[in-house]
Amino acid sequence: MTNGGVRALVSDAGLPESSGWPLLMSSIIRTQRPWQEEARGSFVVHADPVREAPLAFALSVAAGLDDQPRWLDSRYLYDDAGSALFEEITRQPEYYQTRTEDRLLARHARAIRDVVGDATLVELGAGSAAKTRRLLDAWTARGPSRYVPVDVSTAPLHEACRALARRYCDLHIEAVAASYERALPLLRHASPMMLTFLGSSMGNLGRYEQDDFLALVAEHLGPEDHFLVGLDFAKDAATLEAAYDDAAGVTAAFTRNLFVRMNRELGTAVPIEAVEHVAIYNEALERIEIYAELGQETAIERPALGRRFRIGRRERIRTELSYKYRPRAATAAVERHGFRLAWSAADEEAGFGLFLFRRLHRGAAARGVRRAAWEAELDRLRARTHELVAPLGEEDLVRQHSRLMSPLVWDLGHLAHFEALWLLRKRGVEAPGAEALDPVYDPQRTPRAERDRLPIPTLAQTRAFMEEVRSRTRVELEAMDRGRSPVLDESMLVELVAQHEAQHQETMLQAIALREDLPYQPAFVERRPLPGAARPVERSVLVPAGAFVMGTDDQVRAYDNERPAHEVDLPTFRIDVTPVTNGDYLAFMLDGGYRRRALWTDEGWRWREASVAEAPVHWRPDGGGWRAMVFGRPTAIDPDCPVVHVCWYEADAYARWAGKRLPTEAEWEKAAAWDAGRHAPRRFPWGDRLEPEHANVDQRRLSPVPVGSLPRGRSPYGCLQMLGDVWEWTATWFDGYPGFQAFPYREYSEIFFGRHYRVLRGGSFATSALVARNTFRNWDFPERRQIFSGFRCAEDV
Ligand code: TRP
Repeated sequence: MTNGGVRALVSDAGLPESSGWPLLMSSIIRTQRPWQEEARGSFVVHADPVREAPLAFALSVAAGLDDQPRWLDSRYLYDDAGSALFEEITRQPEYYQTRTEDRLLARHARAIRDVVGDATLVELGAGSAAKTRRLLDAWTARGPSRYVPVDVSTAPLHEACRALARRYCDLHIEAVAASYERALPLLRHASPMMLTFLGSSMGNLGRYEQDDFLALVAEHLGPEDHFLVGLDFAKDAATLEAAYDDAAGVTAAFTRNLFVRMNRELGTAVPIEAVEHVAIYNEALERIEIYAELGQETAIERPALGRRFRIGRRERIRTELSYKYRPRAATAAVERHGFRLAWSAADEEAGFGLFLFRRLHRGAAARGVRRAAWEAELDRLRARTHELVAPLGEEDLVRQHSRLMSPLVWDLGHLAHFEALWLLRKRGVEAPGAEALDPVYDPQRTPRAERDRLPIPTLAQTRAFMEEVRSRTRVELEAMDRGRSPVLDESMLVELVAQHEAQHQETMLQAIALREDLPYQPAFVERRPLPGAARPVERSVLVPAGAFVMGTDDQVRAYDNERPAHEVDLPTFRIDVTPVTNGDYLAFMLDGGYRRRALWTDEGWRWREASVAEAPVHWRPDGGGWRAMVFGRPTAIDPDCPVVHVCWYEADAYARWAGKRLPTEAEWEKAAAWDAGRHAPRRFPWGDRLEPEHANVDQRRLSPVPVGSLPRGRSPYGCLQMLGDVWEWTATWFDGYPGFQAFPYREYSEIFFGRHYRVLRGGSFATSALVARNTFRNWDFPERRQIFSGFRCAEDV
């Protein structure tokens, strides 16, 4: 078989002319991004068109060395030299894992094939596919088979495909050169399949990452699909530490090679002989921790980004984690994601096992669980809605205090009316009284300014209506759990109603914040200040030129305006590490910012004159300085907190004064989300899971916190507080992404498209954690200041 005559099969539509490779095509069409298809004789490689950013490695090193304790991303261990060293590790006498796994696979491959049946073999982290031979032998022995190796490194993947194509003539090979986050969504048409993740590689994921990984796998496997993992067991420290620190010094050379690579690719000058390899078994956490310990004080300078780090003598930099498993706990951890153990085999003496899981039918896996989770989520949100209005009297709830906002009692009734519409009426279930209230609660019929003229039911009637609808909903959740509608996915409907309520909570807080005469403090709000914050040293960070994936294809948790995911190529820019603070903004005011015509656009100046604004809303002159009315209380202005309640015109004028500009929406999202190393966007700036230490969201506080107080919330490029604290104005008008489709109704986004509203990103202290995410788009008129809005600046480079 030759590998000459490489045929590029990409036609104008970005689709192969040949229909010989039916496995993945339809899902690639769905993503609307042309993946590069390359057919060579008997195999096809689908390559992620989004290439790794040129400075991904440099950025990752900066992120890791900035953190405490310091770390380096283990994916960079595997350059050509590193991959060769790793192959050598697997042959060391102390490294029993690979040998044991191979023995287990040799003995049981046919049994596995019997359990799984005729399924596509999909392998994550395929590498040279050496460990897969045993499985491929068993598969091809039963007839023509399909194999989908997935790996980020393209060259070894081609190599492996070539070798396998020669060896197995009945094997249909369709490789995916991408990260697993990018590859898994393409695999929906590979079912029935068995996904394999061998070599105890799952143990190299962090504790949270492991859970996120399993959730992702569960999401993309179909019912009855299989998942095969090889896991190394917890055992005595001596055996484990020897396996990660072999006598021949190969593993030590593997660790040192990371610094060799840094010196070569990033121009650092780390003295390699000073790098000592340390492997420790942490018994409490049941994991091997691998460190590079520096024998002398070392400066790591990276000319590419102009950063410098000083590593102390004997300081350790973590380069890898390898979790060890207990079979029962590991099985339970996987099964929680909707799997059932179908088969397993272990070498008890060596302490390594193979575990084969079957993905359950969603119904069987989650019946009852899903319903209970829906109900808990809706009830938790409703409890918060009631807590938010609890400090307010009936008069406060019923009267309209600002033309910008509805009377709060309208919000309450509207929540129930919306719930009735989407969880009951759209599904053909009767909702008593709801239809009669359409004219009252349809936001399109009556603008906010006129809502006090509506025949809004009394507070008591409204509360009864909320209860009535919710009790019907409870019954319906049961039925929805059983159903599987192709048109309006049940999870999507519940998510829609839940997010809608979460968003109204913020709207209601905006209305309450406008009441300067009403001291307001709900019971759940945290009063203690955060521990002292160090203001970040750097004011702005560099985001190197390159393409990234903006938006999402998430059909359940995202709104229509966040879809579809699409590639955007941006030139290099700089963006501020933090939002603009009160102190920064005060300097603009003192410098005559509100009086200098040249700082404002024509429209901005018109607004300035008409509004006679000379400070953010709620600021009051106080002696020679300023105070702010914050939720009805006069409050000292903290110069280190992000400025809040400024409109787009003010943000724009400030940026011009500072010699900068507002970031575009795409720039904001790239800086927040794009993980160049992983080659995929993150859900949150710091990762895929939101904890209180990451961001000031969820109404835990009723104000922003000082910049620098949430160092854990760092984005891949080093930005802080992108989510939470304040919504951030961007330079972009709100519009649909290319390929936008209104869903489930035009009134959510589409009717607002055009040059009317500016996009805000990131969420505020009042934004629910349910809504906060990197892709979420908020919008408002450029003159609006009742939102908890601030901004950060960007610059061209
Ligand atoms: N998945 C392998 C493991 O955790 C990876 C590995 C083996 C490794 N030896 C290593 C990673 C040494 C870094 C350094 O067993």
